[in-house]
Amino acid sequence: MAVRRIEMMGSRVLREEAAPVQEIDDELRRLVRDLLDTMYDAGGIGLAAPQVGVSRRVLVVDVPGEEGTDAAPQVHTLVNPVVADASAQTERESEGCLSIPGIEESVTRPARVTVEALAPDGKSVRIEADGLLARVLQHEIDHLDGVLFVDRLSPFKRRLVLKKWRKSRQG
Ligand code: NI
Repeated sequence: MAVRRIEMMGSRVLREEAAPVQEIDDELRRLVRDLLDTMYDAGGIGLAAPQVGVSRRVLVVDVPGEEGTDAAPQVHTLVNPVVADASAQTERESEGCLSIPGIEESVTRPARVTVEALAPDGKSVRIEADGLLARVLQHEIDHLDGVLFVDRLSPFKRRLVLKKWRKSRQG
């Protein structure tokens, strides 16, 4: 088990466009294991490679099944994921981020997405997601493009949130 240090907002790597993975090798497999270890250690439901300082297009998610149903948790490791399709219908729900601890705000996103990616074994995967899974996938894919959820707030709300963040980091 290897838990890596999580980069906080302000770190440059979180603002870079991550590089596509060219080859699935031992280094990638180690990265995937460490991402899972780090996500579980932090109690998160998603983590992208830039958040552990690695600017590559890899993410992990573990989203619980819908409450009150017997739906299984959705665990995915995705390499070079893209949003292939997104619904016009949007949803507004609260989000947080392991790289911005203590901040939660409502973000509007497409309600349903189709995500295409490679699995760590090199096979193609296609995920049709709604609800929390759709939100988490979009949030994590944003990380691969250097985008944080606070960027998706109104300018007014964003200013307030950044102020609160800076204050909390000084304390
Ligand atoms: Ni995040």
